[in-house]
Amino acid sequence: MGNITLTMVKPTAYKKGYAANILAKITDAGFRIQAMKTLRLSKAQAEKFYEVHIERPFYGELTEFMSSGPIVAAVLEKNNAVEDYRKLIGATNPKDAEEGTIRKLYASNIQENAVHGSDSDENAEIEASFFFAKNERFNNEGGLV
Ligand code: CMP
Repeated sequence: MGNITLTMVKPTAYKKGYAANILAKITDAGFRIQAMKTLRLSKAQAEKFYEVHIERPFYGELTEFMSSGPIVAAVLEKNNAVEDYRKLIGATNPKDAEEGTIRKLYASNIQENAVHGSDSDENAEIEASFFFAKNERFNNEGGLV
């Protein structure tokens, strides 16, 4: 069982000023932030990040959207991080998300769904490495993970 997941606060949620509220919900739920930054993806970077979805009809729109403005990317640490974080954020489509979940509270629609969360331990490691170097991730004692 892995203990990290990678999240992004997506451009619409960031623009609406929800980043701090979303991060508060994340840490209140027991996740520890190993690494975090605000950045804007280029179209090419968004295409690389979402490469697994290249065949999907929404790939072009999604990568356009994800490169349209600043995001917050963070590596979150907790036992069973991937599964627990997916529960905290709720269903991909906010219409299907349970009350109290981050997407129910802050998402606009299925694409602009407030946050990303890794879907497996393997992808969490790949996605964490996409945004952060080894010397940018810290443990609870302030040392490198
Ligand atoms: P995310 O968790 O970042 O992973 C893939 C993203 O693709 C997803 O959140 C949505 O933003 C987007 N997505 C998934 N399904 C659809 C869809 N049917 N239409 C548009 N965007 C989608």
